[in-house]
Amino acid sequence: MGKKAGKLWGGRFSRPTSEAVERFTHSLAVDQRLAWHDLLGSIAHARMLGKARIIPSREARRIVAALQALLRDLGRGRLSLNPAAEDIHTALQLALEKRIGTSASYLHTGRSRNDQVVTSLRLFLKEKLQGLDQEIGRLQRGILVQAESAKELVMPGFTHLRHAQPLLVGHLLLSYVAMLQRDRQRLEGALHRLDELPLGSGALTGTGLPINRAAVARELGFSRLMENSVDAVTDRDFVVEILAASSILGAHCSRIAEDLILWSTREFGFLRFDERLLTGSSMMPQKQNPDFLELVRGGCARITGNLAAILTLLKGLPSGYQRDLQNDKELLFEGLDRIDGMLAVLIEGFGGIRWIRENLKRQTEDESLYATDLAELLVARGIPFAQAHRSVGQLFAHADRTGKSVGSLPLETVRRFSKAFGPELYALLDPAASVRRKRSAGGTNPLLVRQAIRRWKGIVRR
Ligand code: ARG
Repeated sequence: MGKKAGKLWGGRFSRPTSEAVERFTHSLAVDQRLAWHDLLGSIAHARMLGKARIIPSREARRIVAALQALLRDLGRGRLSLNPAAEDIHTALQLALEKRIGTSASYLHTGRSRNDQVVTSLRLFLKEKLQGLDQEIGRLQRGILVQAESAKELVMPGFTHLRHAQPLLVGHLLLSYVAMLQRDRQRLEGALHRLDELPLGSGALTGTGLPINRAAVARELGFSRLMENSVDAVTDRDFVVEILAASSILGAHCSRIAEDLILWSTREFGFLRFDERLLTGSSMMPQKQNPDFLELVRGGCARITGNLAAILTLLKGLPSGYQRDLQNDKELLFEGLDRIDGMLAVLIEGFGGIRWIRENLKRQTEDESLYATDLAELLVARGIPFAQAHRSVGQLFAHADRTGKSVGSLPLETVRRFSKAFGPELYALLDPAASVRRKRSAGGTNPLLVRQAIRRWKGIVRR
């Protein structure tokens, strides 16, 4: 390190950079993953420079051919980058010089790394977000397979982590599909807004050279030009938006993981995971732990931390490029990598679930789950809900006190709590009957859930 040869600047300097500064400002390890998109950006830029006769067209052709050769090498994993280069933009410029000598020095005309870096990053993200959307879709489809195979399986639904009301397993699973759909929409919104070309903004004011930004945008597939050069080089809203959307997605993954962890405990016993998903303990020979889900929960914390970090990084920055911005990529890439990992294991996780039907059945024998149904029965008899609520509450308190089940109480005992109770109340103490009653739009009625599964399959297919 320390040689001017490894830099895109140096004419103004007579002494080498301090080793400490060099090490501290170096970013190749992080930004080298932008190599592909940086090359694409440079190819479009060089072509435009040639066509606009800003550089000789012969030189432009040489540069484009050499950049394409670099792309090919990169694709084959055979592009070696000079580790002394300050960042990926410098490293690729050096690689180009190695190939075509001084012709390479025409490339960095009418651009700055300030507009170049965000061009590469936006290009990279356009591709990345499409892939991410596909992965979320895969997870949704995996969940739908489970929802469909669960059929009319009923579980106790919980509020405050206490038995609340019977719930179709499939209905609960569809709630995950809906959450993930909003994540896709948020990422799609971010993708739409970042689809603008910053290149051509130069360091911050544009350039005096007759560049053609629209041609570059067209070649790179950007829908619009960023319309203000200062904004183009300063803006990192897209990084914030992606980390924000990823944080929400991460929180969803974490909540899903938490449900699955709870349900796979001996205490709940709703489901079992394929052994391939579980991990052991070095001391306790009997253990099979869902570490992968715990790390999904843990990963979510990191992404949220990165969101806080990028907002903190941006909040005091003056307009125009500041080197602080270099840290955007580390936060973003780390967040995206975690999301990738979380989605991958959740996809596996949903593929490896076996519901334990006997346990679910036993749990739904808890009569307290049907208290609301009994109250609604009284409402159907014309009793005001508040009064029905009190009567059923007293009925359940009586059953608790006397150690009897509501279903075993004779009708005349039950009618002490409300004259409106009739013999049909006994049939309500049943999971299938309970979910069937929930016909309100969006409710857990099996027919509605089947329709919802069909609708979702149409939405998330492919
Ligand atoms: N590596 C830098 C970054 O990622 C590129 C831009 C450098 N610009 C500059 N003026 N030093 O932000």
